[in-house]
Amino acid sequence: MIVLGIETSCDESSVALLRGEEVLVNLVYSQAGLHARYGGVVPEVASRDHLRKLPPLVEEALRGAGVGFGDVGLVGVTQGPGLVGSLLVGLSYAKGLAMALDVPLVGVNHLEAHIFAHRLAHPGAEPPLLALIVSGGHTSLVHVRDWGRYREVGTTRDDAAGEALDKFGRLIGLSYPAGPAIDGLAEEGDPKAVPFPRPMIDSGLDFSFAGLKTAAVYWLRDHPHTRPEDLCASFLEAVVDVLSEKALRAAKVLEVRRMAVVGGVAANRRLREVLPARAAERGLEVHFPPAGLCTDNAAMVAACALFHYQELGRGSPLELPAIPDAGL
Ligand code: KG4
Ligand code: ZN
Repeated sequence: MIVLGIETSCDESSVALLRGEEVLVNLVYSQAGLHARYGGVVPEVASRDHLRKLPPLVEEALRGAGVGFGDVGLVGVTQGPGLVGSLLVGLSYAKGLAMALDVPLVGVNHLEAHIFAHRLAHPGAEPPLLALIVSGGHTSLVHVRDWGRYREVGTTRDDAAGEALDKFGRLIGLSYPAGPAIDGLAEEGDPKAVPFPRPMIDSGLDFSFAGLKTAAVYWLRDHPHTRPEDLCASFLEAVVDVLSEKALRAAKVLEVRRMAVVGGVAANRRLREVLPARAAERGLEVHFPPAGLCTDNAAMVAACALFHYQELGRGSPLELPAIPDAGL
């Protein structure tokens, strides 16, 4: 079965082709350059660019995989959460394609798709597991009892981890999205240089990152000459510390021995160092997908669509709507 996946929930247009769970191609076109001068994603600009980029990307993916439209047996598409205009471009295209090819269409939850990045990267790693979803829009701890059975046990009360990094980056003059640049600068800095707070680290499984951003504003006001490398290393250390401690606490509460960290921030090198080291001390396993499956991509969408199609034995109704505020 060849599955074509489409992802357009935010500012990446992505198209993937899978043969079963084998990824044939996973093309990602990032609009980041378009939005950089606005300091964040402009929804109208994003949807127009998806419209421009998606059709040629599908053709490029088919060429790359050496297959034709006629080989596609299933279309999977992100239904939400995300920006409504961006979602609608992907959904409308996917519906048209499924209708024209007379194949089933499956609407996918973007957060569940992030969890499926783990399944793609580690085919043997079966639930139960704890998923830490850390992206620009979400920070959640999810108990994955089985594929398709989820319970969110913790989430952010304000900013997402990636959002906090992006806002902090903007404060120190980095362009959007700042996560990758902070990742690089932090390698050259001292994580102890600035004593940033660790919001809510000792209580519960929820997160809060807005206070950290405020702390950065005050620190910069009072210490404007701090090296950017030290600022980045210290800010990132606070984020990584909180994420790691909460994930370890959740694993303990839920009595799971395996963790999967997914979403754009899971590409972060410091997080990939700190969390596995602390988990190993407690006899826990932590898996991170390769960076290309952490950030938004259509391979994870296709994998999730295939799972639901096989579970249900049918696709979604063609009138399926965009759900901008979908939860897991
Ligand atoms: O999963 P994703 O691509 O999109 C959403 O669903 O939000 O995540 C994007 C987020 C952005 O906030 C970006 O700054 C962050 O992931 N990010 C990183 C890294 N790569 C992307 N944050 C830290 N280190 C990275 N290497
Ligand atoms: Zn995402």
